[in-house]
Amino acid sequence: MRRLMFVMIEDKPEVGKKDVIRLSLKLSIEQKASLAAMHGRDFISLHDFTPVEIADLLALAKLLKHHEPLPILKGKQLAMIFTKASTRTRVSFEVGIRQLGGDAVVLLSGDTQIGRGEPIKDTARVLSRYVDGIMIRTYDHQDVLDLARWASIPVINGLTDDLHPCQALADLLTIQEHKGHLTGLKMTYIGDGNNMATSLMFAGAKTGMHVTICCPPGYEPSAAYLEQARGDARGESRIEVVHDPQTAAEEADVLYTDVWASMGQEAERDSRAAAFAQYQINEDLLRVAAEDCIVMHCLPAHRGEEITEEVIEGPHSVVFDQAENRLHAQKAILATLMGHPEDFV
Ligand code: CP
Ligand code: NVA
Repeated sequence: MRRLMFVMIEDKPEVGKKDVIRLSLKLSIEQKASLAAMHGRDFISLHDFTPVEIADLLALAKLLKHHEPLPILKGKQLAMIFTKASTRTRVSFEVGIRQLGGDAVVLLSGDTQIGRGEPIKDTARVLSRYVDGIMIRTYDHQDVLDLARWASIPVINGLTDDLHPCQALADLLTIQEHKGHLTGLKMTYIGDGNNMATSLMFAGAKTGMHVTICCPPGYEPSAAYLEQARGDARGESRIEVVHDPQTAAEEADVLYTDVWASMGQEAERDSRAAAFAQYQINEDLLRVAAEDCIVMHCLPAHRGEEITEEVIEGPHSVVFDQAENRLHAQKAILATLMGHPEDFV
């Protein structure tokens, strides 16, 4: 029986790190063993994690969310490389590691030798001698794979053109909170078959959800990721790609969207605006979804494009819960990958 319990520590102000963790992280033996076994791994795609590992990360995220900050990562340093802009990812990782007792160094590509072409494999080996983990947000997914290959410390994918797994993990936490479970839910994603769509396919496949990606012809998720996600599909989970938003949204428990033009696609803005004009979450679409449907968006949102003002600000929207949960999900990732495995034993 896998279960979670809380033990409060308010009456023990001088507790040490191990005490804090033993007292507060009341996870089942199986969960602790599973989290300890993930120590030192990279977090690049949800495809790389088993359904049980994802469930355990979510359990830890939930525990950390409802607990005061714990010094699980005391003395640990995270390097954060950004070659693309960020608000949520940057702030939630930086605040998250500090809440866990560690610290972060932000490297903006334009200010570093990375931006001047220093090879990824050199950056990986240098940073591995200074810090305990690397979070990277960049364009080419291969750069993250190369970084992970050459680094001797965990590498976390903070978004590439292909995937956004940290967002998808936080989204699972949000859906679980609002729906009470994940398995069997229907999630319909309306928009571009981009990094968000791909990571949501894996998130849904691993947790037994039905995922419908509804995009204009020509903007489907890549065939390779689709095949991988279908291979991951658990139980009754189905991963489908369709083109008609009204049909796709029918009886959806979760309606999700993302920008029509992602970072790096600014030159395609006009052609995409034309192609995606019908791919908007609005009141019409909400009407055919399940009555208690939740509306999600990873943010930043473009009101009047992929989502209307009234829907994003309306009663079905959970977008700020999603944004908040980035902090908690990432703390679970950081604690698991970079923490001391014995903390979980
Ligand atoms: N959702 C998300 O990753 O937001 P940022 O681009 O602000 O990090
Ligand atoms: N698809 C968007 C997600 C932003 C968080 C982008 O890549 O720009």
